[in-house]
Amino acid sequence: MDMTSIDKTGTFPLGSRTVKRLGYGAMQLAGPGVFGPPKDRGAALAVLREAVASGVDHIDTSDFYGPHITNQIIREALAPYPDDLTIVTKIGARRGEDAAWLPAFSAEALTQAVHDNLRNLGLDVLDVVNLRIMFKTEGPAEGSIEEPLTVLAELQRQGLVRHIGLSNVTAAQVAQARTITPIACVQNMYNIAHRQDDALIDDLARDGIAYVPFFPLGGFTPLQSSTLSAVASRLDATPMQVALAWLLRRSPNILLIPGTSSLAHLRDNLAAAELELPDDALALLDDVAA
Ligand SMILES: NC(=O)c1ccc[n+]([C@@H]2O[C@H](COP(=O)([O-])OP(=O)(O)OC[C@H]3O[C@@H](n4cnc5c(N)ncnc54)[C@H](OP(=O)(O)O)[C@@H]3O)[C@@H](O)[C@H]2O)c1
Repeated sequence: MDMTSIDKTGTFPLGSRTVKRLGYGAMQLAGPGVFGPPKDRGAALAVLREAVASGVDHIDTSDFYGPHITNQIIREALAPYPDDLTIVTKIGARRGEDAAWLPAFSAEALTQAVHDNLRNLGLDVLDVVNLRIMFKTEGPAEGSIEEPLTVLAELQRQGLVRHIGLSNVTAAQVAQARTITPIACVQNMYNIAHRQDDALIDDLARDGIAYVPFFPLGGFTPLQSSTLSAVASRLDATPMQVALAWLLRRSPNILLIPGTSSLAHLRDNLAAAELELPDDALALLDDVAA
């Protein structure tokens, strides 16, 4: 049988499994502002089902998307889950009634969040749980993460969580965490235009730890760059496909979770697995951040 397109990206260890490097991020499946139900629930179910039918075996989510709604849609679309599907969720935040993103780091809040994820996803144990640090909402900020991480490690010891990851963290926090418990993955903002984590990615690659960039396409303000557009038109691809192909080339430990609520965009994003970037295009793209 022919390899499906996304197999071309290769694999990398994530928690108990080895996953394909092109996955799917579910945040866009909630309503506007990641709050409330989607306009078209049927379309959200279809995106998830097509992602998995196309070979995606890694989905990123959180119970605070919606809240609750994104996980409920994942469960409706995909349960009983395929054996090879890794669902990664995150805890550490809650939503205000006005849709605000608020820190939720007490032992009680973290425990509640793990149980919310279990219930809404319909699971007995969560594959990977990222502790999402909220010292600042936007971007990492220094400070000890020992207390909340110790709570999550205890939930792991109780058998509710298989593997622990970190999100929105500094390199110092990753180092601190690794003295407390093994870390399966780090999820920070990173893309072709935002490369603050270049050194961290290389360090994690050396240690066999996955790096999962959020906002790989720029997030709420999708990437725009004349270089990206020029390279895309030369390669008969879209700028978003070039941005994803660049991340796949950047480091073997990078796992992609582009988010979309659209079947057409899902297909475009998965097709990025087929895109090979010539060295001269790569040289141009490396300048986008500058
Ligand atoms: N740890 C954290 O703090 C954190 C923060 C944010 C996100 N995340 C995770 O990371 C995942 C990815 O981030 P994200 O979804 O926010 O941002 P993203 O993947 O960078 O971009 C998503 C945006 O790009 C659009 N888009 C997607 N594919 C496209 C395509 N092929 N052509 C044109 N536009 C396209 C989407 O709109 P359409 O729906 O119209 O396609 C959406 O507006 C999320 O799903 C979530 O799981 C984690």
